[in-house]
Amino acid sequence: MNQASLHQINALENQDLTKANALNKLFKQRLSSNLPIIKDLFFSLYPGENHTTSFKKLLLQLPALFKERPTPLKLQDIHRLKQGDWYQSEQLVGMQLYVDHFSKDLKGLESKLGYFEKLGVNFLHLMPITPRPKGENDGGYAVNSYHEVDKRFGTKKDLLRLTEKMRDKNMYLMLDFVANHTSNEFPWAKKAMAGDLKYQKYYHIYQDRTIPDAFEKTLSEIFPMTSPGNFTFNPEMQKWVMTVFNQYQWDLNYSNPEVFIVMLSDLLKLANLGVDVVRLDALAFMWKKLGTLSQNLPEAHTLISLFRMCLQVIAPGVVFLAEAIVAPNEIIKYFGSGPMKGNECEIAYNATLMALLWDAIATKKTILLYKNLYNLPTKPEEATWISYIRCHDDIGLGFDDRYINEVGWDATHHRKFLLDYYCQNIEWSPAKGEIFMYNPKTGDGRITGSCASLLGLEKGLEHNDEAKINQAIDKIIMMHGIILSYGGIPLIYAGDEIGALNDYSYLKDNNKKEDSRWVNRPYQDWENIAHLDSKKTYHSRIFFALQQLIHLRKQNRVFADSNNLVLFDGPNPHVFIYERTSDKDEGVLVLCNFSESPQTIAEISLGRYGSLAKPKDLISGRATKFIEGKLELKPYQLFWLSKA
Ligand code: GLC
Repeated sequence: MNQASLHQINALENQDLTKANALNKLFKQRLSSNLPIIKDLFFSLYPGENHTTSFKKLLLQLPALFKERPTPLKLQDIHRLKQGDWYQSEQLVGMQLYVDHFSKDLKGLESKLGYFEKLGVNFLHLMPITPRPKGENDGGYAVNSYHEVDKRFGTKKDLLRLTEKMRDKNMYLMLDFVANHTSNEFPWAKKAMAGDLKYQKYYHIYQDRTIPDAFEKTLSEIFPMTSPGNFTFNPEMQKWVMTVFNQYQWDLNYSNPEVFIVMLSDLLKLANLGVDVVRLDALAFMWKKLGTLSQNLPEAHTLISLFRMCLQVIAPGVVFLAEAIVAPNEIIKYFGSGPMKGNECEIAYNATLMALLWDAIATKKTILLYKNLYNLPTKPEEATWISYIRCHDDIGLGFDDRYINEVGWDATHHRKFLLDYYCQNIEWSPAKGEIFMYNPKTGDGRITGSCASLLGLEKGLEHNDEAKINQAIDKIIMMHGIILSYGGIPLIYAGDEIGALNDYSYLKDNNKKEDSRWVNRPYQDWENIAHLDSKKTYHSRIFFALQQLIHLRKQNRVFADSNNLVLFDGPNPHVFIYERTSDKDEGVLVLCNFSESPQTIAEISLGRYGSLAKPKDLISGRATKFIEGKLELKPYQLFWLSKA
């Protein structure tokens, strides 16, 4: 929380907030205390006197946007400022879902709120629900509008009713703001295509290949197989448009301040629907500069901070999630650095942990995981992670070659091994995943597959192999046990809580068959969910195990994220150990065995969790047994030890 917010909290005393006057007064205080920073950020991106008119426009826009914010949300903003860093609480447990795959539409979702409550989930990330092109649309990440609701999901009224209900139940909502690009059907793109020069300047559009060719020298390819290159020829304009992702996704040109100003207004319209966390999609790409990779540029950080500071003035209760699946040292910068530390995004995906957990599963060793985590810079205190096993996208092996080599493995071979292990190129591997965007030129590729299929459940079921099925279930529970205890908001992918397998139906859909990420976006299996209480199935075993872990998480304050994680140096190369602590001398020690055979840990390496402390495993509810000074973990066993 920045200085300005602290002043506001002091100003809250003795004010009747329901009076519009009081809310306006607080807005003005926020504006005056943040204005110098906003001005600096704006003119550092858009220098010179010729941008003064745009800045004045921005200044006029801020109070207008505040006026549009509904009063219940303004009150909630103030409540959140008082409450502090609500997004770090151990009470938050999230789920990510495609509304159409989960419950058909928004009304359906409203009727399923009880399901989330049963599991203990109170934070929802709904994949894009905004209008999109009819054919290919990247699962809605090609947007035709930033704040309307696509008919297939229902109406804006349905969404507003849902968010109101969620607020009543203390549930939180995260929606995407696809800030880097619009679809080619977006009104600005259509006007640009019709020859309107004003709107052509909203995008990166060029007469011929000169600048695109110069850009291509240093840009990478995001979807090399389906959308090679970074520019698309548009026959209507007879010009080249920058399209870093798919050809139908046009990159916005933020070097034009008008784009920032209109996008700020779209951001607020989205937030005003009752959104608590705005996921800034593909934010690493928001600023382009010739001669660079055009990812993670300093200007992109300035731009995001500028959005953040304006939001701080208008809607301070809303926070940003950085969708930056980039190198570990780059991810951390999205929390803000230098003078803007803590003033960029409050939340980021812990993509490093995610990818390395998959490494540990495949190698059955935790050495590379430790190596990377030890070298990760500490995040600011007011920031937190999304802790996840997998999401709707592919799993990229985004960790450093240097560390692979340092643990004694050959980086190229190791990466090939991981792709082979997960993508069905190794006979003995239990994993059943698919390869995504394999580039034969470089040998690079990413992995797709549901959590259960990647962890061996699908193969176990195919072979009717009970031992393999049980092992897969243990792995699924252990992996969730990690994201629920590691720190940050755990985000479960819908279906993983009941062991959903890969969904191959995408292969029959022409608009999806080229994109194997659809294999890991299954439809929610309500038929099996109906029998969770009455039948003992693998679905119910996983569901109730996660339900218990979620319950335990919420009972233990140490799981709130206050940079209270201590890694325990690997006394056994197959085991991952960390402690969550509190200043009240409380603590939980998490231990996980990534190997197929039992492993032991010498009592001496467990510090204050040794036998004298009589630690209790919160999960089994039993006292921990030490045999000859050692603690034994069964294959894929998870312990949450608490001092008695
Ligand atoms: C983000 C989304 C991904 C999408 C891309 C382009 O990375 O997670 O699904 O394809 O942005 O919008």
